[in-house]
Amino acid sequence: MRIAIVGGTGSFGLALGQRLAAAGYDVVIGSRDADRAAEAAAGIGVAGAANADACREADLVVLATKAEAAVDTAHGLREAIRTTPVLSVAAELTFGPSGVLPTAEATSVAARIQDVLDAPVIAGLHSLAARNLGRDEPPEEDALVCGDDAEAKAIVLELAERITAGRAVDCGPLGSARALEGLTAVIVNVNKRYKAHAGVRISGIP
Ligand SMILES: NC(=O)c1ccc[n+]([C@@H]2O[C@H](COP(=O)([O-])OP(=O)(O)OC[C@H]3O[C@@H](n4cnc5c(N)ncnc54)[C@H](OP(=O)(O)O)[C@@H]3O)[C@@H](O)[C@H]2O)c1
Repeated sequence: MRIAIVGGTGSFGLALGQRLAAAGYDVVIGSRDADRAAEAAAGIGVAGAANADACREADLVVLATKAEAAVDTAHGLREAIRTTPVLSVAAELTFGPSGVLPTAEATSVAARIQDVLDAPVIAGLHSLAARNLGRDEPPEEDALVCGDDAEAKAIVLELAERITAGRAVDCGPLGSARALEGLTAVIVNVNKRYKAHAGVRISGIP
C-alpha cells in the first residue's frame, strides 16, 4: 500500500514515514517543494515528490502539514486526492499564559477537511508525539482513530496497529475528532507540568 504524507518534511511526517516504511508500507514524502521533499525523503530512505504528485499515486493520503494549513492544503489538493482516503492528524493549538488550549473553532480540523474533499476523511494519531514515534522502538501507546467511512477507517486502524506497541482504538464517528484533536492540548500541558513525553493508553478494553 502506497501512503503519501503531505507536508511530510516536518517532524511528525518524517517520524511517521520512517515508522510506516519500517512496517512495510510504500511511503512518499510530500512537500510544497519537490526538491525539499526529495532531500527529506532520502534521509529516511523513501521516495519524495511535490504534494499533488504524491497524492495522485497514493492509496492513502496523510495530511501532515502544520495544523493551521491543513484545510487550505486539502482544498488545494482536491483534484489530486479525488476519492483516495485521507487521514488528518492535525490538532490546532493556542498557546497562552495559562497553558495550551484547543482551538476555539466550532468544528474539528478533520470535519473542515471533510467539507472540502470528495474523499472519506479519517482523523487519528494526534496523541502520538513525533519524538515518541521517531524512537528506535515503536511507542508503548495506543493510537486513537475516528471516522465515518468503515473501509477507510479499517485502513488507518491497520496502519496504526503496525506503528505502535499499543493498540489501535476505534473511537467512533468523525464527530469524535473534536475531542481527539483537543486531547493534544491536554498532553502538551501534561508534558510541561511533568517534564515528560506523555502518550495515551485506554484501559478496560480487551
Ligand atoms: N509534532 C508532533 O509531535 C505531532 C503529533 C501529532 C500530530 N501532529 C500534527 O501533525 C502535523 C505536522 O506536525 P509538525 O510538527 O511536523 O508540523 P510542522 O513541522 O510545523 O509542519 C509540517 C510541514 O507543513 C508544511 N507547511 C508549513 N506551512 C505550510 C503552509 N502554509 N501550507 C502548506 N504546507 C505547509 C511544511 O512542509 P513543506 O514546507 O515542505 O511544504 C512543513 O514541513 C500537524 O498538523 C500537527 O498537529 C504533530
